[in-house]
Amino acid sequence: MTQIRVSQSLNDGESIALKQGDQHILLCKISGKYHAVSNICSHARVLLSKGRLRGTTITCPLHGARFDVTSGKCLGGPAFQDIASYSVSDEDNEIIIATDR
Ligand code: FES
Repeated sequence: MTQIRVSQSLNDGESIALKQGDQHILLCKISGKYHAVSNICSHARVLLSKGRLRGTTITCPLHGARFDVTSGKCLGGPAFQDIASYSVSDEDNEIIIATDR
């Protein structure tokens, strides 16, 4: 199983960009829970971490597509494809992201 382990904790509403090999991941903390999705917009391969996170929605900085970071669902165009979402567990002050889904 491929994992990313993060020993840094986030504040609510905060997000960080992670990279493992060629995989870009956006880790967010919302209402005390961690969520991880692909950090690449499905429209034109821009880093979503440069966009704005409001509630559970991240908005792409380039053309404004919106994605739900709890599920990866595309909520608004011009993108129409969902982004990958990954399961996250929070154990012993370490956040573990299963990157092979
Ligand atoms: S690159 Fe994200 S909406 Fe176009």
